[in-house]
Amino acid sequence: MSEAKFKQIAQTIISRIVEGHYPPNSKLPPHRVLADELNTTPVTVAKAYKLLAEQNRVESFVGRGTFVCGESRLSQAIHVSEDESEFNFSILQPCLSYNIMALQDAFQKAAGHITPQLIGYAEYSGHQQHRQVGVQWAAQYGLSGGTTQNTLLTDGAQNALSLLIEALTKPGDTIAVESLTYPGILAIASLMRREVVGVEMDEHGMIPEALQQALQTARPKLVIVIPSHQNPTGINMPPERRESIARIIRDSQTWLIEDDIYGFLNPEPVPAICNWIPEQGFHVTSLSKAISPALRCGFIKVPESQISTINAHIRAGIWLSSPFNYEVAAELMSSGQAFELAKQQQLLAQQRQQIVREILQTETSSQQGYHVWLRLPQHWPQERFVLEASKRHLMVSSGSYFAVRQPTDHIRLSLMSINSEQRLREGLHQLKALMETNMTTEFPFQV
Ligand SMILES: Cc1ncc(COP(=O)(O)O)c(C=O)c1O
Repeated sequence: MSEAKFKQIAQTIISRIVEGHYPPNSKLPPHRVLADELNTTPVTVAKAYKLLAEQNRVESFVGRGTFVCGESRLSQAIHVSEDESEFNFSILQPCLSYNIMALQDAFQKAAGHITPQLIGYAEYSGHQQHRQVGVQWAAQYGLSGGTTQNTLLTDGAQNALSLLIEALTKPGDTIAVESLTYPGILAIASLMRREVVGVEMDEHGMIPEALQQALQTARPKLVIVIPSHQNPTGINMPPERRESIARIIRDSQTWLIEDDIYGFLNPEPVPAICNWIPEQGFHVTSLSKAISPALRCGFIKVPESQISTINAHIRAGIWLSSPFNYEVAAELMSSGQAFELAKQQQLLAQQRQQIVREILQTETSSQQGYHVWLRLPQHWPQERFVLEASKRHLMVSSGSYFAVRQPTDHIRLSLMSINSEQRLREGLHQLKALMETNMTTEFPFQV
């Protein structure tokens, strides 16, 4: 067999994945079937699958076959780009141009009073005054009972999620999540070999009866909920629903991770689910979405019984988060600017939701969130749309990356990473034009 041949086959498979012919999580054809189709041998196909597995593009399971994966999905789902010619509707971050001056100022102030404590190791997960930043931040947006003892510091919310999943479950355990959820959670579960079960949602978020059912049938060790401005649907869970979810979790003895990273977008604080179940709930938040993802300031409020376990995981994983970055956060907090910046981003998000409704002439699932969960017209399969959009420098996220084993005809649009309103409008007009194009006649599908 020539070496080039199996690489060529691997390339053909990659193109089919990208074009949506083999969607994420789908099973690839058996070696012999693909070999017949591509006029090669099953051994060549097996070598191509092996190469793709090494690149984390597919995953093989003995007796089950080879599946489009998995680990590389996060980077495919969320496009991080600094290319000025692109319209980045993919990454969910604050509109950073609004925050630069305040950050410059806070970094300068923090640098002006560097002490040995600030540049050395610290006891537990960070200094007391830095944990106080997390206590204040989470309390402002609806969490009660946070103290400097039970609030621990992490490198952003992603780090908090991964260390909690690692600490609270073991390989093979099941985690229940919303049926459409943040791909960062799915990526952790996939890497750590945890099973995931998706719990059905309605317009208020995770459905209590569906959670009850999932707890009985799948017996998850852990439930993860994103209650505020949910990623990707934008749904904001009302207090009554939060209380119902808390009641079910309390009766089931499972753990809850409440990922409340978008809680600051609520004009008025909404009570955290953890408020009802402080001994079972881990509340996660960070400053990434309101201030800057590069600060990597994340916080977990931990049940009293679990503080030393989670501290041990933080210490083993990262030892401690950068005290200097937390000092910058403390500067922003003591001057009151942290909350002002959050308010400014909140108002901007509301304005941008309005712009989407005006240009795309559609209702949005949220009036306040950073993103829109958009149903595509019937003539557009979402992978194909994402591909054609990217050829026009319109970077959007395919809905398939958020779905736990269910088809979806949606894409997610982030409204905040494009800095100027004029460019946001321009990008939205281009997206609208593409959506209205009849894909079947303009771009006949080729594999
Ligand atoms: C729901 C959710 N949780 C966690 C994260 C990760 O946040 P951080 O930057 O704080 O790690 C994101 C980022 O998009 C998110 O949407």
